[in-house]
Amino acid sequence: MSRDSRRKVLTTAFLVCVVCSVLVSAAAVGLKQRQQQNQEEEKRRNILQIARLFDPDIAVDLQFKKVRSAVVNLASGRFDTTVDPEKFDSRRAASQPESRVIIPAEKDKAGIKARSRFMDVYLVEEAGALKQIILPVYGKGLWSTMYGFIALGPDFSTVTGFGFYEHGETPGLGGEIDNRNWLASWPGKKVYDRTGAVRLAVVKGTVDPQSPNSVHEVDGLSGATLTSRGVSNLLAYWLGENGYEPFLTQLRSAGGVKP
Ligand SMILES: Cc1cc2nc3c(=O)[nH]c(=O)nc-3n(C[C@H](O)[C@H](O)[C@H](O)COP(=O)(O)O)c2cc1C
Repeated sequence: MSRDSRRKVLTTAFLVCVVCSVLVSAAAVGLKQRQQQNQEEEKRRNILQIARLFDPDIAVDLQFKKVRSAVVNLASGRFDTTVDPEKFDSRRAASQPESRVIIPAEKDKAGIKARSRFMDVYLVEEAGALKQIILPVYGKGLWSTMYGFIALGPDFSTVTGFGFYEHGETPGLGGEIDNRNWLASWPGKKVYDRTGAVRLAVVKGTVDPQSPNSVHEVDGLSGATLTSRGVSNLLAYWLGENGYEPFLTQLRSAGGVKP
């Protein structure tokens, strides 16, 4: 076979392709465990940051020791000990027919169509007393599904932290949901009013500090009313009767966390 024959060129190209695909596949398989570990660490970092517990000088795993993971059955509002929180992935469970609940359109304030029957929750306790409970929340913005966490204090109503770890809203507009100053205005706000209704919401414009509702309200993001509305809607869903409300009510009446 001459050096430049068509057959030799094709054979060489074919062999190069085979070798490269074997290398890429081997790398993908070999690095899978590492990727999962990195994803888990990233999730833990997000939880710590949103709960305002993150210290960049201490390893994430070490800091996460003060957080206890648990799984909750949203319909009963009770902890479910048959599901291992370390292995549970609520985003994956929301896509599996055996573990998801379809949300009827009239109740689907978050625009998510379906959710997992169970949700992962994170408890921060000190000397046996609950300091914070951190709950995953997500829902549609203008362009994307926004994934985040809300952290509540021991009254299960006062916000101690809030933020998103994944979304595709426009930088400078809806993307301002990551703005530090805006996020800093959330702690201290109250989710529920005296009747137990979810009142926490992002308003259009700025909050009137004289208004009796100001304890439930957060400034709107200018030029991003649609994303702001998405934030209010997802909070209304997840903190309402079809989300965590039965669970938070149980905890309140039990006088704290006793899984
Ligand atoms: C390219 C482009 C990207 C936009 N991205 C967002 C967005 O991420 N979130 C949002 O609420 N509005 C976004 N808007 C603006 C909305 O279309 C709408 O005008 C805005 O939400 C209204 O908010 P305002 O009442 O505060 O002006 C975008 C507009 C354009 C042209």
